[in-house]
Amino acid sequence: MVEAVEGKIVSGKQGVLECIMKIVVAGSKGMLAQDLIPMLEKEHEIFSFDLDEIDITDKEQIFGLVRKTKPDIVINCAAYNQVDQAETDRETAFLVNAYGVQHLALACEEFGSVLCHFSTDYVFDGKTNQPYQPDDQPNPISVYGESKRAGEVFVQSILNRYYLIRTSSLYGKYGQNFVYTILRLAKENEILRIVRDQTMSPTWTVNLAQGLIELIHSGNFGVYHLTDRTEGGISWFEFAKEILKVKGLGNEVVPTTSQEFAHPAKRPTYSVLDTTLFTERSGYEPIPWQESLKRFMDTI
Ligand SMILES: NC(=O)c1ccc[n+]([C@@H]2O[C@H](COP(=O)([O-])OP(=O)(O)OC[C@H]3O[C@@H](n4cnc5c(N)ncnc54)[C@H](OP(=O)(O)O)[C@@H]3O)[C@@H](O)[C@H]2O)c1
Repeated sequence: MVEAVEGKIVSGKQGVLECIMKIVVAGSKGMLAQDLIPMLEKEHEIFSFDLDEIDITDKEQIFGLVRKTKPDIVINCAAYNQVDQAETDRETAFLVNAYGVQHLALACEEFGSVLCHFSTDYVFDGKTNQPYQPDDQPNPISVYGESKRAGEVFVQSILNRYYLIRTSSLYGKYGQNFVYTILRLAKENEILRIVRDQTMSPTWTVNLAQGLIELIHSGNFGVYHLTDRTEGGISWFEFAKEILKVKGLGNEVVPTTSQEFAHPAKRPTYSVLDTTLFTERSGYEPIPWQESLKRFMDTI
């Protein structure tokens, strides 16, 4: 499906809408947004903001912004992502991840904009050994997961025209992430103890941004999953070993369990997301996780 949007059509591949769009990006100083915005700016007109300028939990501010800018698309990269802290700060997690998203969805509905919103593998309980499909039933097991699920429900109940993309285990140049943690730990310790009983698919933010751009050019609205390609998932232990290998570091990595390495918030044991629908509808093919990691490490 190709949805007509306001804007000037500059070129078009078969079945693909390519036009200059007016796009608002929320959460502009976050890890994903800092990779995404320069990529979008090559083709589109961008207005971006972060918490120090506009707060998505302030409904009036959000309505004022969308009324004034009348964007074709609002891309929400803003979120409260502190998974463990959310267990004791439920209020902030829901304020940002649920009600902030509700404000964006209501403003998009009022002014005819499309909303693109990101969610997480943590909306699932992980009690499976098959990659999750976009229409599988969420059942979050943490406050963070519940708050992100509540945001999804607002998007889906308020809007018809939205892209809802679940992703997982992001790493990128501009934010605190597992790759940086492992490199820091490797400097400080000879032996690293890393969890082996959680299976997931890591995702480089540049790839997520590229996939998103191809999806919004397709005009195919819906719920999607996008991560790097892992063929059934990897553990944090495997990911850590690969990070050290790419960097040429010889630290020993010892597998441990989630129980041994207890966190306040529960994580799903298996949270691999099936990306088939994303590729079918956007044409974007996820890149193998080892290749992504190498490309990322070349940039830092
Ligand atoms: N990181 C992951 O591993 C991961 C995994 C799955 C899904 N996701 C999802 O992917 C998306 C992008 O994640 P990310 O890692 O790039 O996020 P991030 O680095 O935490 O960036 C989020 C940005 O939103 C800002 N923000 C927070 N509250 C706000 C508010 N009320 N109004 C406006 N801006 C606000 C934050 O500012 P402050 O820093 O000042 O709070 C931050 O700059 C999010 O939806 C996230 O839930 C992330």
